[in-house]
Amino acid sequence: MNNIAIKIENLSKSFGQGDSKVTVIDGASFSLKKGEFVSLVAPSGAGKTTLLMMLGCVLEPSSGKITIGDEVVYDNKWKVKDDRELRRKKIGFIFQAHYLIPFLNIEENIKLLPYENGESEKVVGKRVDSIMDYLDMKDKMKSMPSQLSGGQNQRIAIARALANEPDIILADEPTAALDKQRAISVVKMLKKITREQNVTIVMVTHDDSLLPYCDKVLSIEDKKINIKVNAKV
Ligand SMILES: Nc1ncnc2c1ncn2[C@@H]1O[C@H](COP(=O)(O)OP(=O)(O)OP(=O)(O)O)[C@@H](O)[C@H]1O
Ligand SMILES: [Mg+2]
Repeated sequence: MNNIAIKIENLSKSFGQGDSKVTVIDGASFSLKKGEFVSLVAPSGAGKTTLLMMLGCVLEPSSGKITIGDEVVYDNKWKVKDDRELRRKKIGFIFQAHYLIPFLNIEENIKLLPYENGESEKVVGKRVDSIMDYLDMKDKMKSMPSQLSGGQNQRIAIARALANEPDIILADEPTAALDKQRAISVVKMLKKITREQNVTIVMVTHDDSLLPYCDKVLSIEDKKINIKVNAKV
């Protein structure tokens, strides 16, 4: 069985053209295994969000190859018929701000995407129940986002990403709005999810104290990607 969740080969991204052309990522190659918990660190403006959005097939690379599971999704051009469907089914996103829809309650926010994917109420209901149980948020199903704290809403954003049973979760500074203790508890939760659900998580963070929880640390230096493998934690 192929144990690779995502593989990129010689991936590059530039913005602009001619004199104003800026290369952000220059020939990145690495692969991430299923169930790996990976952090992505680099100074502001170094290209973390750019890389994450390419991994999530949201942003088109300038060149290179992206393979998700055993499907080549990009090889100097998009290879999938429907990149939106690919994103919807295989990839979950968590952002710095939770982006919950303010006029839907928590349950509706979480179930929106699975329903959009045509899944049945029964299947989604069961799955979301167990996710909310797991995140200790079951009593908040009928609350509105405005009634929850920042940390609670961030957990709901995690629940929403999981509700779709993605293979890969891409998280852009998911703990930035949280205090230290809550940040660590969210990170421990993400790690547990990778272990128990075999999901690969790539998390952008500026907080070095969170790095020991990760299996690998990717960093962007001078448009190149470095990989550090942490000792088993
Ligand atoms: N759509 C775009 N058009 C032109 N330049 C862009 C675009 N998106 C990003 N850039 C440039 O690419 C570089 C990397 O941006 P990116 O958002 O990936 O940085 P980052 O590492 O996520 O930074 P931060 O930590 O501040 O979020 C920056 O110089 C940015 O100005
Ligand atoms: Mg960014």
